[in-house]
Amino acid sequence: MCGIVGYVGGQRDATPVLLEGLRRLEYRGYDSAGIAVQNGRGLTTRKLAGRVQALADSLEALPVHGESGIAHTRWATHGAPNDRNAHPHLDCTGRFAVVHNGIIENADALRTLLERSGHRFTTETDSEVLAHLVEEAPGTTLEAKVLASLAHVQGTYGLVVISAQERHKLVVARRGSPVLLGIGDGEYLVASDASAILGHTRSVVYLNDGDVAVLTPDGYHVLDAEARVQVRAVDRIDWDVEAIELGGYPHFMLKEICEQPETVCSTLRGRLLSADGTARLNGLHLTAEDRAAIRRITIVACGTSWHAGLVGREILEELAGIPVQVEYASEYRYRPQLEGPATLTLAISQSGETADTLEAIRAAQAAGSCVRGIVNVVGSTIARQCPGGIYLHAGPEIGVASTKAFTSQIAALVLLGLYLGRHGKLSRAAGQDLVTRIAALPDLVRCALALEPQVRALAQELSGAQNFLYLGRGVNFPVALEGALKLKEISYIHAEGYPAAEMKHGPIALVDERMPVVFVAPGGHVYEKVLSNMQEVKARGGRIIAITSEGNGDLHGLADYQLRVPSCPEILSPILTVIPLQLLAYHIAVLRGCDVDRPRNLAKSVTVE
Ligand code: G6P
Repeated sequence: MCGIVGYVGGQRDATPVLLEGLRRLEYRGYDSAGIAVQNGRGLTTRKLAGRVQALADSLEALPVHGESGIAHTRWATHGAPNDRNAHPHLDCTGRFAVVHNGIIENADALRTLLERSGHRFTTETDSEVLAHLVEEAPGTTLEAKVLASLAHVQGTYGLVVISAQERHKLVVARRGSPVLLGIGDGEYLVASDASAILGHTRSVVYLNDGDVAVLTPDGYHVLDAEARVQVRAVDRIDWDVEAIELGGYPHFMLKEICEQPETVCSTLRGRLLSADGTARLNGLHLTAEDRAAIRRITIVACGTSWHAGLVGREILEELAGIPVQVEYASEYRYRPQLEGPATLTLAISQSGETADTLEAIRAAQAAGSCVRGIVNVVGSTIARQCPGGIYLHAGPEIGVASTKAFTSQIAALVLLGLYLGRHGKLSRAAGQDLVTRIAALPDLVRCALALEPQVRALAQELSGAQNFLYLGRGVNFPVALEGALKLKEISYIHAEGYPAAEMKHGPIALVDERMPVVFVAPGGHVYEKVLSNMQEVKARGGRIIAITSEGNGDLHGLADYQLRVPSCPEILSPILTVIPLQLLAYHIAVLRGCDVDRPRNLAKSVTVE
């Protein structure tokens, strides 16, 4: 959740490199930020509550320079987001500074022990114990001290330690929280994700759980818990720096919404086989025997990815004829695991780092299920935990509210449905027809984006509302959930998504002339049913906003506002109907003066339970 950056080199000032990294990582957490640099005379630390810009202003007013350093942007778990609790944390002597992502589960016990032996704590965080453990640890080198300290630690960490005594050295450790090394020319970087260092290098080393890495300007090496040297591959990041820059857009969220014709295309690229009417998904690594064994599919995911999973249920059941259940990863992992080899467990995650989804995968694997991932971030923990899967290739998603990942997840699920269907009940002719329709999606997404001026005008009308209801049926019920989630997370307006017919069993009591009710109602086999639900809302004075498709007539005059997306096969429609909902949430949030890319209390990547 927090962002970590480290730099060791000596050829240039570490502070601007660290600050740039923090700015790139701010989407991971943004309640406080800090740096510690080493300039040959010891460590200098600066840390402040608030955004990275507050730290940057402070460093401009009173500069600090260094040859190496560490930095952190925080999303608070233990201790309020104030100056004191911001990272880096120091030991009693100020010789060791630590930045940490994760949770030290035995922090209270360690703190009590350390206080008994005379250590003085200055923060309420769990992370501070790490600095005191290093201070207390035996060993002559920083890596020896870190290895000895970690032997006492239970919980998860991605961490970097710097010492006042070892001028050009960083020690990095990983267990359960992502950290990677950036390999430069005579300089090395550390980051919790690649976007922090992309401006400096594209060569990265993903650390495994249990790894400890030592970085100096002369090189790096990776150790295991017994200090044996490990070999880790160097990977290449294939994003461009532009992918993580605003490129003229006012917000990442709007940029990412507008990128969707290209990102959906990118998920599909090279995977549609028109002659056979199927999909090429080599990365799945499913053998004919694996496929034949599948009797059920269980999807595990969180947040927007869980909504994509609900859409996936409709797609997979229709195309592949395999029963699907969709689980909140956080609930699934604590239930009795009744899966077995006949269940394909699909984990969906944009970041590939969501802790609950990762643990759900491990639980399914322990129960003998065949597990595959649908993941955006290449090299992420979930991607590496799964023996195969489908990468989204949607590029980095920076806006905290997920948008382009959602449409790419659905595109990937359509490909999977096609692939499993063609190995099952789906005829070649039906597959070929679907391939043609899927290939048309990027252009249809472009048409849906052309609704933006209408959506902006609608946002003006609706931005003062206190509550919203989003209703849909079938494959568009999850789109209603996603539309409501987008609105509440970035505009802080209360919004509820519901199956349109189920609304009669409760939420209809809320409907009056002040309640905007958004119906997701493109053409399809439940369209007429949704119109009946619209009647029920209209009869109670609700204001109806209909997301419908071209060719659907005037909706019997029921809707106060209509937004028409292009028509397409029903199972593909969520890729189009969600677009006006993303834009509506975005424009309402902007009109209400909200910080769209960094909504309060949220984090992009939830790496704690
Ligand atoms: C957080 C993000 C959401 C995201 C969810 C799951 O809550 O704010 O946008 O949908 O985590 O993340 P994942 O990376 O696993 O898709």
